[in-house]
Amino acid sequence: MTEAAALTSPMIVAEDVRKRFGSNEVLKGVSLRMAKGEVIAVIGPSGSGKSTFLRCLNHLETIDSGRIDIEGDTLVANDAQGQARYVTDAEVRRICARMGMVFQHFNLFPHLTVLENILAAPLTVKGMKRNEILPKAEELLRKVGLLDKRDAYPSRLSGGQKQRVAIARALAMEPDIMLFDEPTSALDPELTGEVLRTIRQLADEHMTMLVVTHEMGFAREVATRVAFMDGGELIESRPAAAFFAQPEHPRTRAFLESML
Ligand SMILES: Nc1ncnc2c1ncn2[C@@H]1O[C@H](COP(=O)(O)OP(=O)(O)OP(=O)(O)O)[C@@H](O)[C@H]1O
Ligand SMILES: [Mg+2]
Repeated sequence: MTEAAALTSPMIVAEDVRKRFGSNEVLKGVSLRMAKGEVIAVIGPSGSGKSTFLRCLNHLETIDSGRIDIEGDTLVANDAQGQARYVTDAEVRRICARMGMVFQHFNLFPHLTVLENILAAPLTVKGMKRNEILPKAEELLRKVGLLDKRDAYPSRLSGGQKQRVAIARALAMEPDIMLFDEPTSALDPELTGEVLRTIRQLADEHMTMLVVTHEMGFAREVATRVAFMDGGELIESRPAAAFFAQPEHPRTRAFLESML
């Protein structure tokens, strides 16, 4: 994607997003533009606001001020007093349905089989018929390599398998954007590879993805861009190769050195 195209058809526009929890200002004016097909790795120290930023994008948290547009539709923007004003609840739901989210701790429904986990949202949220969604669900399970686990309960799966089910479950809603919050942090090292391969496969299919991660190798190889957050600010966001070769900001350099 050229820079011009990225500017004309952004998937996500966040402008000067501010968020506080009590007296703690967690996002201090975060801005980010994301083009179709981009894979942005968000890195930064613990407590820097990475999860909060991701959660604000799909309304799991509300912002205090700033603007968020998703695929050209405004989710929230400032009123004349500079306070965040959200669109109607129905619009919020419609806009946020375009984003799928995968969490560190999988959040699968423990009382449902793998297949039922994947069918749940399309059946209840989208009101689809079982026979409409079943072929797609099976195709997604095949894609993440777990078709043979379709009737298993999550408690019988490894962490890596659970996370691949969580990815398939998010994809079943046919999102245009996928948000990942440290998808491999809860996994034993030998299981991270299978989850990262699944995400890489989505990148190859040009899924637009924002991935909070501590996996620097993954960020370097799969991300088109790397964004560094520190202390509630997005310090810099640059193409992955340039980011690692010549980090511009001293705080980025210090962080990368601490990761070695
Ligand atoms: N629901 C909440 N209520 C109060 N404070 C919160 C809440 N969620 C996050 N915070 C605070 O906001 C700050 C940013 O947290 P956040 O979880 O976004 O950081 P992070 O960069 O994702 O960190 P980590 O790498 O540890 O996941 C922290 O100081 C945290 O304590
Ligand atoms: Mg986090």
